[in-house]
Amino acid sequence: MQKMETLSSLRIFKTILIILSLVLLFNIPTQAQGLLYKLRPIQHDLAASKIGEPATTKPYDYILKFLSSSSFPSRASFPSDFLFGTGSSALQIEGAGHEGGRGLGIWDDIVNQHKDVYGDVDKFPKKIEHYKRYKEDVQLLKRLGVNSYRMSISWSRVMPNGTLEGGINKEGINFYNNLINELLENGIEPFVTILHFDYPLALKQKFGGFLNHSIVKHYKDYSELLFKTYGDRVKYWTTINEVEVTSIFQYMLNIDNISTDEECKTTRKCTLSYTLLHNFLLAHASTSKLYRTKFQAIQGGEIGLVLSSGCYVPYSSKLEDVAATQRLMDFYWGWILDPVFHGNYPKIMRKLVGNRLPKFTKKEKKMLKGSTNFIGINYYTSHFAIYEPNRTKSIGDSYDALARSEVFNEEGKPLGYKDQYAWNYVYPEGLYNMLLYIKDKYKNPKVYITENGVASTKIPNPLKDEHRIAYIAAHINATKAAIDDGANVRGYFAWAAFDTFEFQAGYSGNWGLYHVDFNDNLKRIPTDAAKWYRKYLTHDLRD
Ligand code: NOJ
Repeated sequence: MQKMETLSSLRIFKTILIILSLVLLFNIPTQAQGLLYKLRPIQHDLAASKIGEPATTKPYDYILKFLSSSSFPSRASFPSDFLFGTGSSALQIEGAGHEGGRGLGIWDDIVNQHKDVYGDVDKFPKKIEHYKRYKEDVQLLKRLGVNSYRMSISWSRVMPNGTLEGGINKEGINFYNNLINELLENGIEPFVTILHFDYPLALKQKFGGFLNHSIVKHYKDYSELLFKTYGDRVKYWTTINEVEVTSIFQYMLNIDNISTDEECKTTRKCTLSYTLLHNFLLAHASTSKLYRTKFQAIQGGEIGLVLSSGCYVPYSSKLEDVAATQRLMDFYWGWILDPVFHGNYPKIMRKLVGNRLPKFTKKEKKMLKGSTNFIGINYYTSHFAIYEPNRTKSIGDSYDALARSEVFNEEGKPLGYKDQYAWNYVYPEGLYNMLLYIKDKYKNPKVYITENGVASTKIPNPLKDEHRIAYIAAHINATKAAIDDGANVRGYFAWAAFDTFEFQAGYSGNWGLYHVDFNDNLKRIPTDAAKWYRKYLTHDLRD
């Protein structure tokens, strides 16, 4: 009797256990078993995974000290074909917006309409005159010792109204021919972005730009023109830069000018950002298919796409925050990476977004799956992720994820250290963790770190950017740590080569390794970080 009773209470206990596990498994807000990446212990005072003591005076002093120690990975410790470069984009440096037969781009219009919001609008038309001074700029790149340069092509410069029927602009075509040749003649591999934020205004006026699926055909025509014209020399193509940033922030907030606190469920905004990204993905996949079927075998290049990413770290050890962390990663990286590697959006997105998330047809899924030879990652900083039961409180990626990002965790601690001259916290461990997450989740694809850098907004002397040396060095170190742990990273590009025009901030961020003096005929001057990078790439720092 006693035995039977024990048995039946055991059974009841077992059943309760099973029910409890099922509840845990299916209760999305508290689901935690999906967290795929293993975070290294977070050491708040440390800037990089392998760096020693915390600083006493400046938060990055110890990185500078670490640089001359034997533990810092030298250039020679990376594979010899590793791309070490820097980058920029057409829209941010070229200028000559109305010259050489270029048509208007969407950003000409946006900046024009929001003169009060944007900084340095007077500098927008000329920028740093890269269009005219590209030869000088290539020499400066050569001086840095880089073996690759990430550049972008302005769609409006080669196809002024965005369509083949509208005509091809020979002058524009020649400009990029000259730039690409100049780079190659100087031993620098062009790493070309087909679309970096800007595209012909005519397409937006005609049918709403990327909100309309019709753009896919025109984007493909434009890309085909580039493959035909430059593909004999360009071996690295990326279709679109920062698709999710463009979909959520830049495109939606600036172009549609919708206020950020509008409710997701009751406005068009949330639905539209999913539509936009959907069309970006289809543009990427059909162009990539075109390249891979028609050009790749003959031209021997690779094609990928670029996303902006930060790592997410749980705000607390509560299950709901750990689960929120995974959801943010699915809503941010998975939104793009799942379609390009597996052919569809993450299941959790379908579940939480419902019909507002567009669906791929069977044919599109097939086209998307495996549509990328590599992933480009723009990494700047990372955030904590916290469970957010209220959809209306958060913006952007977190609208539907029932999660939002935070700068400080439960204990009031940030990730990494605050850069004294910029807005962000410096957290190279986030880069390391992201690289390993991608390795584990997507079968170790090739990755290029297509952007990594820091602004110098409040710096008294933009040439004395020691904080940028520390930033870049710490991230190179984190990259090497990830490679040592098996991540398939093939290149690192410090952002940016020259001061670049930033949307809203103008040139105030002094982003360039080469500072541009607007009071002295746009003179390019190497900053201390440029000198350091050159030394790093061309000598052993311990010499
Ligand atoms: C990423 C963008 O791709 C680039 O254009 C921009 O300059 C940097 N972020 C810095 O804001």
